[in-house]
Amino acid sequence: MSTTKTINLKNRPAGKPELNDFEFTTSEISELQEGEVLVNTKYVSVDPYLRGRMSDAPSYIPPFELNKPIVSGIIAEVVESKNSNFSKGDHVSGMLEWKGTQVAKGDDLLKVDPDKASLSAYLGVLGMTGLTAYLGLTEIGKPKKGETLLVSGAAGAVGSVVGQIGKILGLRVVGIAGTDEKVELLKAKFGFDEGINYNTTKNMNEAIAIACPDGVDVYFDNVGGDISEAVLFNINKFSRTINCGAISVYNNTELPKSISVQPFLVKKSSSMQGFVVFDYADKHPAGIKQLTEWLNQDKLSYSETIVEGFENIPQAFLDLFEGKNKGKMVVKV
Ligand SMILES: NC(=O)c1ccc[n+]([C@@H]2O[C@H](COP(=O)([O-])OP(=O)(O)OC[C@H]3O[C@@H](n4cnc5c(N)ncnc54)[C@H](OP(=O)(O)O)[C@@H]3O)[C@@H](O)[C@H]2O)c1
Repeated sequence: MSTTKTINLKNRPAGKPELNDFEFTTSEISELQEGEVLVNTKYVSVDPYLRGRMSDAPSYIPPFELNKPIVSGIIAEVVESKNSNFSKGDHVSGMLEWKGTQVAKGDDLLKVDPDKASLSAYLGVLGMTGLTAYLGLTEIGKPKKGETLLVSGAAGAVGSVVGQIGKILGLRVVGIAGTDEKVELLKAKFGFDEGINYNTTKNMNEAIAIACPDGVDVYFDNVGGDISEAVLFNINKFSRTINCGAISVYNNTELPKSISVQPFLVKKSSSMQGFVVFDYADKHPAGIKQLTEWLNQDKLSYSETIVEGFENIPQAFLDLFEGKNKGKMVVKV
């Protein structure tokens, strides 16, 4: 039986994950059965939500098992097939293991077309993060033309797409990101009206008030924590907050102390709603269709930070928490 390079979860991280929480090993490639395909990994998606699966706590997806491979969105090439829907040379996407080569059930894979978009785009703007942006904003945010949309984590995979969709729908869009270079990118490439660098801003409450003179109608929250507390002082009557992510507290070891949100929401008849993209699976095909259309019409653009090499997958994941990516962080294998 042949073997393949594999990355397992070795330890459950305490606080910030470290390289030694991952183990590089080899594993056996099982024999191909009817309905299965043998695939080689091409691109691996690293995502902040994987941090949650590394802890042994109940969530919307079960935790990873120790000493078993990590699983994430992967684009792979079919090298052998016992499934009539797939042929050698096809490219597929699926939730696959961090391995060089593996056997997968055909039912768990989707064919992707490298002639329609770059392969890596199927992990970002035409994949999970694009759908998160589109469905989170439209289903929960219910944006209306002329309103003000504020986006945190704005230069990342989800945030950069949220802002652009906001512009397509006729909103004024303001983004919050961690460097001046990212703020510039928001305005120059993604068409945001304003940007705020939270790392160089002393008073976020005031900075948001200046950048959003008419207040905030829709807040797309990717980061939680202090930034999102400052937003509360600027929300409008009947505003909506999409709680998409809270990366600023993912590595906390104690429950964060935060201000009480209730009085802010009561005074403004404002709502906050958690959002998980996997709960909207029935809307994914229509979402991908819409995103593809906007991409083809040049209404949407995207940035990617592409790291090279299977051995760099764990480091690329860790770098998300240091803000080293612009747009979607992807590893090319
Ligand atoms: N609910 C869902 O279904 C769903 C699906 C996908 C993603 N998400 C969530 O959406 C958020 C964005 O995900 P993504 O894939 O698009 O990642 P991303 O934004 O491409 O990458 C993470 C970014 O977070 C920022 N960041 C890191 N530490 C931070 C901190 N302490 N405070 C503020 N910002 C910080 C960094 O940018 P800066 O340089 O700007 O700090 C970094 O580039 C995450 O919270 C993720 O968990 C949720």
